[in-house]
Amino acid sequence: MARDRSTPALNWRGTPVSRRSILIGLGAVGAFVAVDLGSVAFANGWVGGGGAFTRQTFVDGFRAVFGNHPGFRKNHAKGVAVTGYFDGNGNGAELSSAAVFGRVRTPVTGRFSLSGGDPFMADTPSAARGLGLAFGLPGADQWRTAMLNLPVFPDNSPRGFYDRLLASATVAGTGKPDPAAMAAFLAKHPETAAAMAVIKNHPPTPGFADSTFSGLNAFYVVDAAGRRTPVRWSFTPLQAALPSTAGDDGLFDALVRQLRTGPLSWRLHLVVGEPPDPLTDATLPWPPERRVVDAGTLTLTGAETEAPGNARDVNFDPLVLPPGIEPTDDPLLSARSSVYAASYRARTGEPKSASAVQVGEVS
Ligand code: HEM
Repeated sequence: MARDRSTPALNWRGTPVSRRSILIGLGAVGAFVAVDLGSVAFANGWVGGGGAFTRQTFVDGFRAVFGNHPGFRKNHAKGVAVTGYFDGNGNGAELSSAAVFGRVRTPVTGRFSLSGGDPFMADTPSAARGLGLAFGLPGADQWRTAMLNLPVFPDNSPRGFYDRLLASATVAGTGKPDPAAMAAFLAKHPETAAAMAVIKNHPPTPGFADSTFSGLNAFYVVDAAGRRTPVRWSFTPLQAALPSTAGDDGLFDALVRQLRTGPLSWRLHLVVGEPPDPLTDATLPWPPERRVVDAGTLTLTGAETEAPGNARDVNFDPLVLPPGIEPTDDPLLSARSSVYAASYRARTGEPKSASAVQVGEVS
């Protein structure tokens, strides 16, 4: 696919990055911003792990490992925006008072992505596939979630994530990570070694369209009487995927092509946790026999090149939750909220370049 890498600047490029200037600038590009910088953990730069370990440490770490790519997400930099809707079937209302679980259609803004901070990376099955979803119109109580096509997450602490990020940096000259650095990391992090063994047993499917996307962190759903139930959620595909094509954008191009032939759908499964299922460790799977509530169907109807006003300018902060869904004490959640806001704040203050995935150029 041809790429236009020219750098049209946003009109507020270069203005000092203050919270106020960002809010003013973003007011012009989309109505999603009200909560984007109001991230729960943003006021507190500390993300856990001790010392001067802050959201900025992560932003600097992503830049050190993947290079500086102004205007793009510091992780999951390569992506495409999508739109659609979610049809709740009412089953979820047994567990949660969230409006989205009623028998109701809710508009959805989303983004498919690949893990890593290089917005022009070649598509590869070894990169985790991401799906960010924002349910509900701006201004309403939104539910946002950012999920992966993995069965568990490799890390159970922000420090683990950060140290693995640094251990996976490619070494100048070889173009590959230093095997000794990763071996040393895994020796100190048996939870990651175990999670990677689980991940290896779930090889990726051929494409985005047939991937199961899972939230991995546990949350509480809360019903009208205040009863709290731990859950993890997954979106399971209702179609096969068109085969990935040759070229650096083969996975994304196949998705765009498939969306032109008709909508793509996933069922929302709420997996109900039972004691002693871990609620604060995303590296550990829950037993496969747990009860699953099918809460409705996500339908994605179209893809768009990342642009002002679509998912490009949404922060899929996992702590943006409506009444009826609450966070657990999983330390990844508050860290994610804080770091996503820092990445969002950085990228929205930087000049923009065209994204690699240009929907109009996919033939
Ligand atoms: C401490 C752990 C983690 C850190 C530091 C981290 C960091 C980041 C950052 C900086 C971004 C870009 C945010 C933006 O600019 O909008 C991002 C995006 C993303 N992350 Fe994470 N992440 C973590 C854990 C997770 C987990 C557990 C999941 C899945 C369960 C996940 C899934 C995603 C997805 C799907 C995106 C792309 C969302 C989008 O399209 O905007 N991440 N992550």
